Amino acid sequence: MKIISFEGIEGVGKSTQLRLLKDYLESKNFLVDVYREPGSTNTGEKIRDILLNSSNELSNEAELLLMFASRSELIKHKINKCKSDYLLLDRFYDASITYQGYGRKLSIPLIESLITFINCPVPNYSILLDIPVDEGFARKSNDDIDRIESSSKAFFERVRKGYIKIAKDNKDRFIKINASLDIDQIHQKIIKHIGL
Ligand code: TMP
Repeated sequence: MKIISFEGIEGVGKSTQLRLLKDYLESKNFLVDVYREPGSTNTGEKIRDILLNSSNELSNEAELLLMFASRSELIKHKINKCKSDYLLLDRFYDASITYQGYGRKLSIPLIESLITFINCPVPNYSILLDIPVDEGFARKSNDDIDRIESSSKAFFERVRKGYIKIAKDNKDRFIKINASLDIDQIHQKIIKHIGL
């Protein structure tokens, strides 16, 4: 089983690319599972509602721990039991380093210890779709801004910077793709990166 994670700030087109890759892999007769974070388990989806509902006031620490509670459920109930050829993840632990570490300024060593604590597998491939913050938000079609999306522009600038650094430091699994390219160009780069 190979794990492929999709990362990036809001509005980069992760879901579109994830769907295209899923269709492509299935057209080659591979079995594919897709999960999103936070969420994708019974408890994880409830935690997602708490995390994203704008009427909830959460401390940064609670936000971090809820992300990891959801992730731990996903690993235990889905990832560890996965029998498919490919597991596509709409975000994974790199998002906690960027959003809660770089963005909320929580301790990155602490976040890394949580990654170890819940035995996160390392993705085989990670795809960073990168775009300037303003462009990303301009592309977002839905007008419902959730709790995390209502964070400041400076927050998302830090998140973007964090992603660029992580991609640079983990070249063995990461590819950084300019998300302003057209949809098919991006898709072709992803297929090439995963060696298909
Ligand atoms: P999305 O799945 O619609 O992109 O929404 C998930 C939101 O949660 C998004 O704003 C990124 C944020 N997030 C974190 O802050 N930390 C994490 O570890 C993960 C997985 C997501």
